[in-house]
Amino acid sequence: MARAAADLWWLMLGLGAVVFVVVGALLFIGLGRRASDTSPRFERWIAFGVGVTVVILLGVLAATLAAMRSVAVEAPPDALEVEVVGHQWWWEVRYPESGVITANVIHIPVGEDVVFRLSSSDVIHSFWVPALGGKMDLLPDRVNTLVLKADRTGEFSGNCAEFCGVQHYQMGITVIAEDAGSFQAWIAAQRADAAPPTGELASRGLNLFLGSECAECHTIRGTEAHGDVGPDLTHLATRAEIGAGTLTNTPLNLTTWITDPHTIKDGVDMPAAELSEEEIAALVAYLDGLE
Ligand code: CUA
Repeated sequence: MARAAADLWWLMLGLGAVVFVVVGALLFIGLGRRASDTSPRFERWIAFGVGVTVVILLGVLAATLAAMRSVAVEAPPDALEVEVVGHQWWWEVRYPESGVITANVIHIPVGEDVVFRLSSSDVIHSFWVPALGGKMDLLPDRVNTLVLKADRTGEFSGNCAEFCGVQHYQMGITVIAEDAGSFQAWIAAQRADAAPPTGELASRGLNLFLGSECAECHTIRGTEAHGDVGPDLTHLATRAEIGAGTLTNTPLNLTTWITDPHTIKDGVDMPAAELSEEEIAALVAYLDGLE
């Protein structure tokens, strides 16, 4: 889909550049002529100009229709489905067939049509991963469908493309296209319950998580945390970033994020954790182990 749009854009840029150069040259030639020149030659030039314009515009119309046809693909009925729900300001990602729930990172198998079912929990967002295809709105009252296919493996970055509040620009999404084996392994790992805490510090962190408001908003499968306001954290440590691309996922950044989210991303629903330094360290030790 992205290639069809890019090809069309290059065609239009090329034609536009040629027209610009030719018209500019003719303008300069015309400036050297007398204004009273109304010879038949002059009229032929006008007819020529109208004719060329019509031909170019019809050509662009044909190319546009061809691009639109190649973009509107029907996915095969057995195609993988991914539900994406926009939130201010992060992406909930669900795989209904396997029950996997994650956030801000979408793994897909390479070379296969993937059906994205897009919706929103609050305002209008727009799903846009430029290397894969065009934009599609996420609306609160209906589900939009977008079919995308990655032609090669790799990581493709995108961002929300519809202004949705002050942190609209920090609503990043990453699509990771990988071979079928790696994808199935990822699904299997994400399906599993959270890793139990290793060590005393992390165990204390789990208890703090469950005993605080963290658990009211976040889910960690395999524990008693079943909140559904914020992202599912079951495999948080496998995600490269936190806050939808706001920070890289390191223990230090996690600490900053938990203690002072509003300095980093003003307006997010998450309250700053009111815990001591030792307690924060325990919490981060636990979260960092959620492979
Ligand atoms: Cu979500 Cu802009």
